Amino acid sequence: MDNRQLAKRLSESSDIIFKYGSPWSEAQFYDQLAQKNNITHVKLEDDKVIGFIICQFVLDEAELLLIGVLPDYKNKGIASTLLTEACELLKQSNVSHLFLEVRSQNEEAIGFYKKYQFKELGVRKNYYHHPTDNAVMMQLEI
Ligand SMILES: CC(C)(COP(=O)(O)OP(=O)(O)OC[C@H]1O[C@@H](n2cnc3c(N)ncnc32)[C@H](O)[C@@H]1OP(=O)(O)O)[C@@H](O)C(=O)NCCC(=O)NCCS
Repeated sequence: MDNRQLAKRLSESSDIIFKYGSPWSEAQFYDQLAQKNNITHVKLEDDKVIGFIICQFVLDEAELLLIGVLPDYKNKGIASTLLTEACELLKQSNVSHLFLEVRSQNEEAIGFYKKYQFKELGVRKNYYHHPTDNAVMMQLEI
């Protein structure tokens, strides 16, 4: 699958995965895939993206931009596998700190990150819109 097709599949799955719709358009996925310091890792089933993770890194720091799994495939360890594999790739690029921001009301994701030993760094007030929410900043040493 080329990047154009992958961006389309990522966008289609994201519309279903994220509670408020896909945070990125198909064009944004496509642009991200072309970034030099990007790690996008996907789990496919019959050309359908059932889970994915997107990270971006600069020097020894990375940001986890998006992670998601289709509803029917949740709680089967797919996100854990994607995150473990992404961390391995990041380590090979000499990254040692992985940061992220998550909606404070996204208990599912925060539960997942805490299980994975991410530590809370602080809160950014009203960081998100539609709907308004605080961002919880988290970090993992990898
Ligand atoms: C967060 C997400 C990626 C986890 O994917 P997953 O494949 O189901 O995760 P795994 O099966 O690897 O891990 C499951 C763990 O997540 C956590 N979790 C799952 N649902 C939870 C909930 N409702 N409340 C709290 N923690 C929860 C638990 O720690 C769980 O482990 P446990 O069953 O041992 O308690 C998935 O729920 C998702 O796609 N959510 C919507 C998209 C999203 O919000 N992404 C994050 C912001 S970019």
